[in-house]
Amino acid sequence: MASYDVIVIGSGPGGYVSAIRAAQLGLKTACVEGRETLGGTCLNVGCIPSKALLHATHQLHEAEHNFAKMGLKGKSPSVDWKQMQAYKDDVIGQNTKGIEFLFKKNKVDWIKGWATIPEAGKVKVGDEVHEAKNIIIASGSEVATLPGVEIDEEIVVSSTGALSLPKTPKKMVVIGAGVIGLELGSVYKRLGAEVTVVEYMDAITPGQDAEVARTFQKLLQKQGLEFVLGAAVQGVETSKSKAKVTYKLKKDDSEHTLDADVVLVATGRKPFTDGLGLADLGVEMTERGQIKTNAQWQTNVPGIYAIGDVITGPMLAHKAEDEGMAAAEVIAGKHGHVNYGVIPGVIYTHPEVGSVGATEEQLKSEGRAYKVGKFSFMGNGRAKANFAADGFVKIIADKETDRILGAHIIGPMAGDLIHEVCVAMEFGASSEDLALTCHAHPTYSEAVREAALACGDGAIHA
Ligand code: NAI
Repeated sequence: MASYDVIVIGSGPGGYVSAIRAAQLGLKTACVEGRETLGGTCLNVGCIPSKALLHATHQLHEAEHNFAKMGLKGKSPSVDWKQMQAYKDDVIGQNTKGIEFLFKKNKVDWIKGWATIPEAGKVKVGDEVHEAKNIIIASGSEVATLPGVEIDEEIVVSSTGALSLPKTPKKMVVIGAGVIGLELGSVYKRLGAEVTVVEYMDAITPGQDAEVARTFQKLLQKQGLEFVLGAAVQGVETSKSKAKVTYKLKKDDSEHTLDADVVLVATGRKPFTDGLGLADLGVEMTERGQIKTNAQWQTNVPGIYAIGDVITGPMLAHKAEDEGMAAAEVIAGKHGHVNYGVIPGVIYTHPEVGSVGATEEQLKSEGRAYKVGKFSFMGNGRAKANFAADGFVKIIADKETDRILGAHIIGPMAGDLIHEVCVAMEFGASSEDLALTCHAHPTYSEAVREAALACGDGAIHA
C-alpha cells in the first residue's frame, strides 16, 4: 500500500494534466489507468487518431482537386489503407508514450488497473488499496447510443470502430450531425464512400452560430456529403454485412429507410463512472449521470474532486485539462480558476470551424444589444492562393461598450485563428483593440482583423 497526496483516476487529457500539475506543485501524485496505454479516449481512440485520418485524407483531397491547378501534374495518390492505419497507430503511440515520459519526468506514479473508491481517502486497484488525501475523478465518458441501435463495432460502429474499419465502406450512414459525425463522415467521404448524415435537429451542429452552421452544411454538401435533417432514427437492423437504418421525419411522421455497409452512431457521449463505487460513497449526481461539483470541483464527499466529461459542461479535452490543472491548484492551496465563458470549440473538417463565446442566437434570446463584424475569406489573399477562400470570420461585440462577446469562424485554420479572439476575450478586449493590432500580411489572421474592423468603420478588403 502506498500513500499519496493526490490520486487521479483516469489518464485522459483531464487526468494526466491534473496529475502533472499536482506533481509540479510538490504533491505526491499517482494516476490510475486501466487501459494498456495512457491518454484516455482522446489520445487512443478520439481526438488524436481522428486528426491523423483527417490530415491524411485532406492531403488526398488536395492531390485530387487542387494539385493540377497549381501545375502539379501526374496521377493522384492511391490509398494504402493499411499504411494509413499504421501511420495513425504510430501517431497514437508517440503521443501515449509522450505522456508516460512526462509522468516519469514529473514523478507521477502510474497505477495500472481500474480503480474503485471503497471510502474517502482510499483507492483500490486490483487487490491493492492505496491511501490518498485527495482523489480526483477524471474517468471521462463513453458512447451514448440510441434505443433500437446496438453497436457491434463492425457494421454498427461508434467513433472507436470507425477509426479502424477494415476497409472503406461503399455506403455509410452517420447518425448525428455533431462533431464526431462530421469529422469521421468527412474522412470516409474523402476516401470514396457515399456518406449520408441523419440528424434529429433541423440544422447540423446544434448550438453552433446558425449562419456558420448553414454555410458549413453547404460546403460539406459541395464535398458530396448528404444530409437528412429533422429525422429521428428509430432503429438499425443488421443482416450479414449490411444494415438498414429506419428514421421518421419529424415534419410529417413519415418513415424512411437507408441501406448501409457501415453505420456510425455519433449521437453524443455520457459520463463514465462504472465501477468507481460512487453510489455507495453517496456522491451526489445530476439527473444526467454527471458528478455534481462545486466551483472548486469538489464533490459533496470531502477529499473527492471530479473534472472533465464526468461533470457538467462541454465534453471537450481542453475544458477537462483546464479543470484538471485548476483542481490540482485548489488542492495545493492555490486559486485554481477556469473561465467557462472563453472555451473554444473546434471542428476539424475542411474547412475548419472554430467558435468561442456567445452566438447571435444566444444574445437575441437574452435581449442583448450587439453588433457584428463579418469578413469573407474571399477577400483574403493568402486564402485565395491556397484554394481556401470558402468561409468567413464573424466577431460579435457589445453594441455599447464594443467588448468582444464571441467569435465564429468557418474557414482555413479556423481552429487556430479562434485563439487570437480567445486571448482578446480573456483580456476583456474590444473589437477595436483587435482592429488596431498590426497583423502580418499575407496571413489568414488578417481575416480576423478585418472582421474586427467591420465591427467599427468597416473592413478594407470587403
Ligand atoms: P454531439 O453532441 O456533438 O452530436 C450529436 C448529434 O446527434 C446532435 O447533433 C444530435 O442532435 C444528434 N442526435 C441525437 N439523437 C439523434 C437521433 N435519434 N437521430 C438523429 N440524430 C440524433 O456528439 P458527438 O458528435 O457524438 O460527440 C460526442 C462528444 O465528443 C461531444 O461532446 C463532442 O463535443 C466531443 N468531441 C469533440 C471533438 C472536437 O472538439 N473536435 C471531436 C469529437 C468529439
